[in-house]
Amino acid sequence: LKPHDRLLIKGGKIVNDDQSFYADIYVEDGLIKQIGENLIVPGGVKTIDAYSQLVVPGGIDVHTRLRVPVLGMSSADGFYHGTRAALAGGTTMIIDHVCPDAGTSLLAAYEQWRGAADSQACCDYSLHIDIPRWHESLKEELEALVKDKGVNSFLVFMAYKDKLQCSDAQMYEIFCILRDLGAIAQVHAENGDIIDEEQKRLLELGVTGPEGHVLSRPEEVEAEAVYRAITIAKQANCPLYVTKIMSRGAADILAQAKRKGTVVYGEPITASLGADGSHYWSKNWAKAAAFVTSPPISPDPTTPDHLTSLLSCGDLQVAGSAHCTFTTAQKAVGKDNFTLIPEGTNGIEERMAIIWEKCVVSGKMDENDFVAVTSTNAAKIFNCYPRKGRVAVGADADLVLWNPKATKIISAKTHNLNVEYNIFEGTECHGVPTVVISQGKVVVEDGNLCVTQGSGRFIPRKTFPDFVYKRIKFGKCTP
Ligand SMILES: *[C@@H]1O[C@H](CO)[C@@H](O)[C@H](O)[C@H]1NC(C)=O
Repeated sequence: LKPHDRLLIKGGKIVNDDQSFYADIYVEDGLIKQIGENLIVPGGVKTIDAYSQLVVPGGIDVHTRLRVPVLGMSSADGFYHGTRAALAGGTTMIIDHVCPDAGTSLLAAYEQWRGAADSQACCDYSLHIDIPRWHESLKEELEALVKDKGVNSFLVFMAYKDKLQCSDAQMYEIFCILRDLGAIAQVHAENGDIIDEEQKRLLELGVTGPEGHVLSRPEEVEAEAVYRAITIAKQANCPLYVTKIMSRGAADILAQAKRKGTVVYGEPITASLGADGSHYWSKNWAKAAAFVTSPPISPDPTTPDHLTSLLSCGDLQVAGSAHCTFTTAQKAVGKDNFTLIPEGTNGIEERMAIIWEKCVVSGKMDENDFVAVTSTNAAKIFNCYPRKGRVAVGADADLVLWNPKATKIISAKTHNLNVEYNIFEGTECHGVPTVVISQGKVVVEDGNLCVTQGSGRFIPRKTFPDFVYKRIKFGKCTP
C-alpha cells in the first residue's frame, strides 16, 4: 500500500441520512476501516483536516447519459469528462443509461457501455438499460441482464413517437416482466402522440426556434403521462420510478399517488430544481438551445421552489442530473428546426451544490435530508446500500468534505464540462465540496482535481431491493 492509500480524516462532523456525529475516519484499501475518536492507525498515513466541515457520503447521480449517440454525434461529455466533472462536484458514483441503437440487442449495447465506461470512467458506475422497442426476445434479454450482468433497472419511453415510444399495452407487459424479475421499472413520462401533433402544428405556423420545444410540450402532457404510467404500473403490481420530474403538475400527481401508498418514486433533476425555463425565449439562439431537454425546464418561475419543497418533505426522494450535453455546434443541427436540436442539459457537476443551496440554505432541509436525497435514497432504491450511500465501517470510502461556509458562483468559465454554456450560469452556491475521496483516494483537494481515467469500477446490483419490494404483495400479474 502506498501511504496515500491510507487516510485519516480528522475532526469532521459525519453526516448520514439518519444522524450526525463528530468522529474521525480511517480509510485503507478503498474502504472505511474505522470510525471513532483517538483511533489507532499505522504510521505515515495522510491526515486530512476536516474541522468545521461536514463529512458526507459521496453523491450518487442516478441519471446520466454520457454516451448518447444522437444523429451520429456523441455527447460532449463522455465517461471521462463526465465523471471527472461529477467528482469535482462531490458525486462519486453515477448510474448511466444504456440506450441501444436500432438493431442492437440490449445485451450488445450493455457490452458497448461497459467497454467505454471501464476504460474511461474516473468514478464507480452502474448502468440502467433503456428499452427502445418491444420485441419477441425481450424477456430472455431482460432475464440475462438481471441474472448475469448486475443490471436491475430498465427504462421505457412514453414519448418519441415512431422512435422509442412504447404503447400502454407494451408498458403493461414490460412492467409485469420486470416485477416478476424484481427489477425497477423506470419511465420517461410524456405523451408522445400529443407532442408529435404540437410539433407539426408549430412548424406549420413557422415556429422553428428553441421556444417551439417548450411550446410543443405543455406541462399537461408530462402530468398526464405520469398519471397513466402510475395507473399501468399499479395494474401490473410493479413499483415505478419516474425519471425527470420537471413540472408542478407531474410532481403533484406523483406525490398524491405516493401518499395513497403506491410504491412510486419521482426524480427531479438539477435542471428542474435550479434552472429557469424562460431562457427558451432568449435572443441568443445558442443559449436557448443549451436549455433544450425533455420534458422541458418549466418556464413557470414557481416550479423550482415547488419541486424543492416536495423533495424536502419526502414526496420526491431522489435527485439526479440527467446530464447529457452537446456543444453549440452539435445543437446547431437544429438551427432551423427545433425538433432536431439534440436534447440534454448539464447538471452532473452542479447537482450537489444546487440542492444544498435550494434546499438546505433555504431552510427546507437539514444536512441529513441532504444526504438522503443526494446519495442514500438512491443507494437504497437501486440496491447498492450500504456499500454506497453511508459513512460506515465496511462501506466504500467514497466521501466528501463539505464546507457550508465556502461559496462558489457557477460559470461556464470555470466548469469542468466540454460545453460553452452552463444553464446555471451566475448561481451563487453557499456550500462547496472541498475534498473528494473516491475509492479511498483523494481526487479533489485545495481546488485541484486529480483523477485517473479508467479507475471507475462497474458496481453490479441485485434484484428485489428491500427498500422498494418489501411493500409489493405478490400475486399473479395477469388476472
Ligand atoms: C423538422 O424536422 C422533422 C423531423 O424531426 C421533420 O419531420 C420536419 O419535416 C422538419 N420540418 C421542417 C419545417 O424543416
